[in-house]
Amino acid sequence: MAEITNTIKHVASPLARQTLQDGALTLPVAGVRPIRMLPWLQVVKIGGRSIMDRGAEAILPIVDEIRKLLPEHRLLILTGAGIRARHLYGVGLDLGLPVGSLAPLAASEAGQNGHILASMLAPEGVSYVEHPTIASQLAIHLQAARAVVGSGFPPYHHHEFPTSRIPMHRADTGAFLLADALGAAGLTIVEDVDGVYSTDPQGADGARAEFLPEVSAAELAAGNGTLPFDRALLDVMANARHLERVQVVNGLVPGRLTAALRGEHVGTLIHTGAAAR
Ligand SMILES: Nc1ncnc2c1ncn2[C@@H]1O[C@H](COP(=O)(O)OP(=O)(O)OP(=O)(O)O)[C@@H](O)[C@H]1O
Ligand SMILES: [Mg+2]
Repeated sequence: MAEITNTIKHVASPLARQTLQDGALTLPVAGVRPIRMLPWLQVVKIGGRSIMDRGAEAILPIVDEIRKLLPEHRLLILTGAGIRARHLYGVGLDLGLPVGSLAPLAASEAGQNGHILASMLAPEGVSYVEHPTIASQLAIHLQAARAVVGSGFPPYHHHEFPTSRIPMHRADTGAFLLADALGAAGLTIVEDVDGVYSTDPQGADGARAEFLPEVSAAELAAGNGTLPFDRALLDVMANARHLERVQVVNGLVPGRLTAALRGEHVGTLIHTGAAAR
């Protein structure tokens, strides 16, 4: 007669006996600093509205600048959604669509801008890659080419938080999450203004706007004025693991992106919570 043996295997886990909600208990296991997976990577977020929507006048010079940067850096270029997403929000909100339906639609607009940019850089071996490829095959793609382009939107999509009717996690937040998770060397956000000001320099109070060469994410979070990037980015920056700073630069001024990637201070440096840890 066959013998019945108990084949249950007990898997030892240092987290097995405690709730994952008690930070003090999980700290010895989860408090370890994550590895930097791609420490040589530079992440560049190109504004949808500020750069891509301007068409050839803004896109051709920045493409030219990126082309010249390729021998120096390996780049993950992420694009924002721009005006088409704003139109989409308008139509979708009017119809009462939930934020979880609007987020993937807006993300597809960011992807379209990425496809445009990648097409312009195709002669240099640059192509557009989808999120799953960024997540698991970025290293091999960046061995084959000096840069790849993707959508900056994070994939919250139907899981987007219901806090706001407009998706709160957009291309700036997505770019930061990726750059920090990959342990990248830096993140540069390319806009159509010199950096962050005390108030919108192109708004009604623009004449009073003061340029902020250096500021912390905590200081910006304490105010409630408008910003040239997603406000949710400030929350993510507060909890950064690797990236100690982000630079916001003017992509309409030739040479600014090049200088920023060379470590020069040419826009606004925003210090994250990682700098304080
Ligand atoms: N405090 C501020 N400092 C600097 N610019 C500001 C500030 N507040 C608002 N802005 C405005 O933000 C604009 C950039 O807008 P926005 O960030 O929406 O564009 P974008 O990054 O190209 O868009 P997308 O999110 O689609 O990529 C600037 O042109 C500027 O007028
Ligand atoms: Mg912006």
